[in-house]
Amino acid sequence: MAIAPIHLKKLAERRRVALAAGGEDKLAARKAKGLMNARERLLALFDPHTFTEWGMHTDHDCHGFGLEDKSFPGDGVVTGIGYVAGRPVAAFSQDFTVCGGSLGRIHSKKVCDLMDYAMKAGMPILGINDSGGARIQEGDDSLSGYGQVFFRNVLASGLVPQVSIIAGPCAGGAAYSPALTDFVIMTKKNANMFICGPEVIKAATGQTVTMDEVGSAMVHASVNGNVHFVANDDTHALEIAKKLFSFLPTNNVMDPPHRPTPTVDLALDPGINELIPADAKSGFDVLTLIPRLVDGGDFLEVHKEFAKNIVVGFGRICGIVVGIVANQPAVKAGTLDIDSSDKAARFIRTCNVYNIPLVTLVDIPGFMPGLAQERGGIIRHGAKMLFAYAASTVPKLTVIMRKAYGGAYLAMCSADMGADVVYAWPTAEIAVMGAEGAVKVLFKKEIAAAKDPKAKEAEYVADYKEKFASPFAAARKGMITDVIDPAQTRGILAMALRNTLSKRETRPPKKHGNMPL
Ligand code: HXC
Repeated sequence: MAIAPIHLKKLAERRRVALAAGGEDKLAARKAKGLMNARERLLALFDPHTFTEWGMHTDHDCHGFGLEDKSFPGDGVVTGIGYVAGRPVAAFSQDFTVCGGSLGRIHSKKVCDLMDYAMKAGMPILGINDSGGARIQEGDDSLSGYGQVFFRNVLASGLVPQVSIIAGPCAGGAAYSPALTDFVIMTKKNANMFICGPEVIKAATGQTVTMDEVGSAMVHASVNGNVHFVANDDTHALEIAKKLFSFLPTNNVMDPPHRPTPTVDLALDPGINELIPADAKSGFDVLTLIPRLVDGGDFLEVHKEFAKNIVVGFGRICGIVVGIVANQPAVKAGTLDIDSSDKAARFIRTCNVYNIPLVTLVDIPGFMPGLAQERGGIIRHGAKMLFAYAASTVPKLTVIMRKAYGGAYLAMCSADMGADVVYAWPTAEIAVMGAEGAVKVLFKKEIAAAKDPKAKEAEYVADYKEKFASPFAAARKGMITDVIDPAQTRGILAMALRNTLSKRETRPPKKHGNMPL
């Protein structure tokens, strides 16, 4: 007894047609441009021999516009499940060689079926976007198809991690699917993303702009923050996605992939003390500190190019995955402005929803002053930080390094905003405002009346600093857990993380909070 050879021959023939995608010429043309094709991208993502494809033999079902006699293998998208570092991920990869990767009814059904499965099984979803957008010939079917994908992006949000790679065109409404996911990675090469391209902008506004100005990876990464990571090419984009998955849980009821070390390393790192300038007014680069706190200096910075006055990203401390939020005194003195508030609030929400403990490093003189900030809505945007921290129930560990002034002190996860532990360096200054500003308000008349107003002001400033420019006033009131030598920071954080990891915080049930957006 054996299967009739004709069946296996037919299967092999069908597979050959599917793998030929849009044809040898189109596949070769991509190769010549240094681009991977849709299947190659998935094979490069997944652990060897783990990718199982779904819907390989699908085709479009559009009758009209001359498509009746055409075949679109896979309908322009390759979907399936594989393993990344031994953990399952559901992925789709749009195939530009097949009708420009445009989305028609069957293409959308494949993506939606995969997303439904990923939500049921509880596994992350990765989408590789490379498409001319809604398939024009399929009219409202393709619009409806996008709607169904968007709906599932929202259903999956907070349930399973969603990562998007933009590796080609991502035009018009299509851009809203990646925008609804947790992380967007975009290649410098071949990719652009926009709602209205240069031609539409010209027709509607008369403005002449280039595609790079509107929709390049660098614009999205540095100007508007739509993109979290810029990749040099396809291979690099996939490497970033894999690295990201190495910090994320498989779904929202699982822990992130902690790799706790058998013992907690409490060794001192005196090098940290060398990083801090003696003059409190001098900035320092927090990116020189963070690698000293995380295992092996391995820190995956998120939104690196956007709002550089705050630094966010993932690392491990003695094996425990953490999300780090740190003021960056080297940029805009570390003040919080509209963009940095948005960036941090989004990151805090992402960590909370995926059970990743938060470590907050504080050196902040306040919210950014200025007309543009006030008129741009710094109140609404800054409120996102307060909301995000207060609403988060993951372990929250705060280290006050230097300045922690005013509302910005609260916005950086003080004990009042639910921090589980707050450590302060001896250089910490916790005050309602900076000394110079405070004395101008409190002693305006006295300074004006003084024989030497400058000397008088300096006297008041010194007095104020004596009182507030140390953490001990706050320590006396029990506002902080302890004052520590900066050299102890990594060990103290490691210990606090182990102790807080079992935290379970429940709040009264409600539909959801009304975050200021
Ligand atoms: C049908 C499409 C297509 C589309 C590309 N193709 N986009 N077919 N519907 N949306 C086909 C082309 O006809 C061509 O077919 C093949 O894909 C490759 O496209 P080219 O134009 O030859 O490639 P290239 O020169 O690299 O240009 C890529 C492109 C361009 C910039 C993406 O194709 C383009 O501008 N496409 C239209 C983009 C667009 O306007 N989409 C609709 C957006 S509105 P052949 O047979 O020659 O190989 C939208 C609404 C969604 O998406 C709303 C959801 C809310």
